[in-house]
Amino acid sequence: MTQDEQKRAAAQAAIPHIPIGAIIGVGTGSTANYFIDELAKIKHKIEGAVASSEATAQRLSKHGIDVLDLNMVTDIPVYVDGADEITKHLHMIKGGGGALTREKIVSAVARKFICIADQSKLVDILGTFPLPVEVIPMARSYVARQITLLGGHPALRQDFVTDNGNVILDVHGLQIMNPVELETTLNQIVGVVTNGLFARKGADILLLGTDKGIETIT
Ligand code: A5P
Repeated sequence: MTQDEQKRAAAQAAIPHIPIGAIIGVGTGSTANYFIDELAKIKHKIEGAVASSEATAQRLSKHGIDVLDLNMVTDIPVYVDGADEITKHLHMIKGGGGALTREKIVSAVARKFICIADQSKLVDILGTFPLPVEVIPMARSYVARQITLLGGHPALRQDFVTDNGNVILDVHGLQIMNPVELETTLNQIVGVVTNGLFARKGADILLLGTDKGIETIT
């Protein structure tokens, strides 16, 4: 299977996890896009969706799926999204598409996080993929200096503004041995909105598309 076929297979494998009549949290990225296309096939069985980005909201709407305001929703049984890297402990780096803050908000509300990914995303140690950090623009240089003190090499994502009007620092050169601790440390730097480590609340299930089919890791 090609990487795209693995992504599509993982997206299809998430469909049996969708409760009838529920509001579904929907992530962002190429794998999440395959999921949206699959969700459209059962749209009459769900109440609607909460989107983690403007791009996802647009794709959901194009498929005729109701997009709901998170503030009007109290229960999201399931959130489905991809990852840039994930370990067998279900800790992730996310935010390659820049949607990390809204992804973290919607997944915080959700009772269960289902990660869908192709096999290239499974790693032993997080950090080869540069860690995205969303930053308030006026704090950009200060936050970059603080991250350098922690041993990272931050690079401003060029020509990119998040859905929230902020910038992204992509942090290179990290070997993240303790993702829970680093997630907390980065969040304490003034000016950081969110970082792309999803470790304090990681995934609950990984549906991994592989050459041999779907592997489920819990
Ligand atoms: C979006 O900001 C990201 O968190 C994505 O979920 C992540 O980058 C995975 O994207 P792909 O499914 O395109 O690999």
